[in-house]
Amino acid sequence: MTKFKRLSEVDVQNKRVFIRADMNVPQNDVGAITDDTRIHASLPAIQDALARGAAVMVTSHLGRPKEGEWSERVSLTRVAARVGELLRRPVPLVSNWVEDRAWQDALLPGDVVMLENCRLNIGEKKNDEALSKAMASMCDVFANDAFGTAHRAEASTYGIAQYAPIVCAGPLMAAELDALTRALAAPKRPLVAIVAGSKVSTKLTVLRALAEKVDTLIVGGGIANTFLLAQGYQVGESLAEPELVAEAQSLMRDFPDKFPLPVDVACAKTFSSDAEAEMKAIDQVAADDRILDVGMKTVAAYAPILQNAGTIVWNGPLGVFEFEAFAQGTKALAEAIAASPAFSIAGGGDTLAAITAFGVGENISYISTGGGAFLEFLEGKALPAVAILESRMR
Ligand code: 3PG
Repeated sequence: MTKFKRLSEVDVQNKRVFIRADMNVPQNDVGAITDDTRIHASLPAIQDALARGAAVMVTSHLGRPKEGEWSERVSLTRVAARVGELLRRPVPLVSNWVEDRAWQDALLPGDVVMLENCRLNIGEKKNDEALSKAMASMCDVFANDAFGTAHRAEASTYGIAQYAPIVCAGPLMAAELDALTRALAAPKRPLVAIVAGSKVSTKLTVLRALAEKVDTLIVGGGIANTFLLAQGYQVGESLAEPELVAEAQSLMRDFPDKFPLPVDVACAKTFSSDAEAEMKAIDQVAADDRILDVGMKTVAAYAPILQNAGTIVWNGPLGVFEFEAFAQGTKALAEAIAASPAFSIAGGGDTLAAITAFGVGENISYISTGGGAFLEFLEGKALPAVAILESRMR
């Protein structure tokens, strides 16, 4: 059971609070923020610390810049401006904040500053000890609120937590860990997971780890195609990994009855947004077909499984939902999850896009901001940034 100190339990009045957030937001070609969910999700930590009289510094990474190489694209300028808009107060951005410490003297209780992209600091990625100590010396309290980066042991997620005087989880980190622990540690059963995506290879360890825990594992997308191949069906030109058929067979052998597979699919001859969907029974897929979605019989078979679930964990769309003709399977799945009384948790970029597209967010119990971190938690891996929070609790 995860045991860590929470920001809400720490007296921060007149203290310098260093918040590591994950405001790694998507940007368009000209650098404008296209989705500010992660910024919104990061505000409660800042607001709480400010309201309780702390001097607040907050940093995040943005992208994967080369250390020491600033560019507008990876600067937090726009992020700081957005945080300022949402907090309705100016949030100055401090550059070169490790070498040049003059800004620290000016930071008073009730103030908030944003510290430029922490991945620009030399030594961030390899969790450099000197950098970690320098960051720890800037604060009385380190609050890690960056769940999305919890699978990275970097100076601002791990090293600083080794040396800062008081270390705690911010409210977003705590909420993520609480929700994931509830879903996976002692879940209300039946526990149903949906893992979909283009490749079995990228999610193989997740599939095996989840198969051990869940009662039912619904696979979708290219992963389902590989499982169909493993059962001897033809998938034509569909995305699939024939080299992983043996892995899929071994999973189905080790966990019989846990993997319901599509019984019908929506196919196209080309991969394009104007391709027409042709519904086919699973044994009717032709050599030149591409499976781009599941069919309605499949959805009807999944619906009661979701309706009767006690807990649902969802990562990945069932089909190419960005193309209207192939959105039905993912839409029906999203709606079935939303309609289920189960405790439901969803995470991953494509999954969040699907939730937004089908407007079901209100009825999913918890939507994670994590991508890689969410998957690693599902895999049962220890997230280093969480492990250090736990060890500092002891
Ligand atoms: C994410 O977008 O998943 C997180 O912000 C982590 O980013 P990273 O993969 O660059 O560490």
